[in-house]
Amino acid sequence: MRIPTWTPTGTIVLASALAALSLGLGFMQAYGGWTREGVLAGTAITARWAFPFFIAAWSASSLARLWPGGWRAALLRRRRAIGLAFAANHFVHLGFVVAAVSTFGETRPLFVYLVGGGAYVMIALMALTSNDAAQRWMGFKRWKLLHAVGGWWVLVIFANSYVSRLMEKPAIAGPAVALIVAALALRIAAAVKGRMRPQAA
Ligand code: HEM
Repeated sequence: MRIPTWTPTGTIVLASALAALSLGLGFMQAYGGWTREGVLAGTAITARWAFPFFIAAWSASSLARLWPGGWRAALLRRRRAIGLAFAANHFVHLGFVVAAVSTFGETRPLFVYLVGGGAYVMIALMALTSNDAAQRWMGFKRWKLLHAVGGWWVLVIFANSYVSRLMEKPAIAGPAVALIVAALALRIAAAVKGRMRPQAA
């Protein structure tokens, strides 16, 4: 029997988003419930949970180009599902952010709302266009540009968030910054390899 391709994708997206919601609510409960501290704990843990999904999706093609085959090929085949899972997880982060800002007076400078809000627009556009029909409709070049700009946008925000937390939360920000540096190194190495021996993306 042929299993429809949306089945594993839907399962990964739904399971990871439910896990994000459970983690967020669990941390909220553990840190004071429906209070400022509780909601901020939910906000932080949901961003932490979404982060590895983003890094895995962003690094999949570099890994597969540098070391073809094996789990890298499997990761590349599932990149769309992992990217969609990141989007779903990160919208759970947005839910906690909205609660923190609207109910508990948490504020950020306008610049943060513009750059962070813009990132959510990009994430939504990338998620909506993560299918063959949208890719055909947009044309590969435009589709690639949207996903490249969106990917870098999100990476820069994660980098800024974790670099700025290195002193305050070294146990979580340290490994996160190390992962970001590793992902960048993989990108550069894969681009160099691609230039030496051109391959399909
Ligand atoms: C308007 C948009 C956004 C707002 C207002 C916002 C707000 C917040 C708040 C209130 C926290 C938790 C409290 C704190 O530690 O300061 C937080 C944590 C975080 N957010 Fe967001 N956020 C936004 C969008 C984003 C985006 C787009 C990303 C990533 C692409 C992101 C990544 C993070 C990270 C990495 C953390 C830290 C988690 C940790 O402590 O480990 N946020 N955000």
